[in-house]
Amino acid sequence: MSDPFDHDDEVFGAFAQLVRWRRDIRAFRPDPVDEATLRQCLELAHLAPSVGLSQPWRFVRVRDRERLERVIASFERANAEALAATDEEDRALYARLKLEGLRDAPVQMAVFSDEQTTSGRKLGARTMPQTRAYSVVCAIHTLWLALRARGLGLGWVSILEPEAVHAACDAPQAWRFIAWLCIGHPEPAANETPELQRKGWERRLPLDEVLKTL
Ligand SMILES: Cc1cc2nc3c(=O)[nH]c(=O)nc-3n(C[C@H](O)[C@H](O)[C@H](O)COP(=O)(O)O)c2cc1C
Repeated sequence: MSDPFDHDDEVFGAFAQLVRWRRDIRAFRPDPVDEATLRQCLELAHLAPSVGLSQPWRFVRVRDRERLERVIASFERANAEALAATDEEDRALYARLKLEGLRDAPVQMAVFSDEQTTSGRKLGARTMPQTRAYSVVCAIHTLWLALRARGLGLGWVSILEPEAVHAACDAPQAWRFIAWLCIGHPEPAANETPELQRKGWERRLPLDEVLKTL
């Protein structure tokens, strides 16, 4: 079978565009997300690489208002703590950042790693059990790109208390909380620059600052 991507500049160009124009989204329009499109994107996320082919990602979509309110309350506690711990000169700027779409995104989802999955028969995860969580992150990134390619946005929320989210989702003990995802139609126009850079919080580093040859 021939490799469909052999020297395919068109595919590379489209992929580069997708990567450049993917953004973390915190503001969403209220219109619902097409269920078939969401499903299609999750199907792609489910093809992500995973240690030993363990596929440890577990997606929990939360529609129940009471559970979501518990997650929002957790964000509010965690964010107040983060604000208080922020250096004084950065505090006013931090307070102005919008760091979640928990109230506006029509799709809310927790993602866990099943630390006791028997899939993959522990290949690769015996010496580095953390590779299960890394695998889940690969799936989230695939989902992020797939949604972007369909004009949808994803916002990753980590300013949360893992135990509170775990309890709000009735997650099994063996599951480890990895991410909360807010998904929907992005509210601001597409942008090539991360919001945190536009708001003056941080800037992109040049590649050569993070690349070394020994
Ligand atoms: C592991 C992880 C956790 C993150 N948690 C948050 C968060 O809690 N709130 C937030 O506003 N952005 C969060 N982000 C998004 C980053 O702020 C964002 O990716 C970064 O600023 C670069 O912007 P971009 O994704 O638009 O390129 C998270 C991203 C990652 C990868």
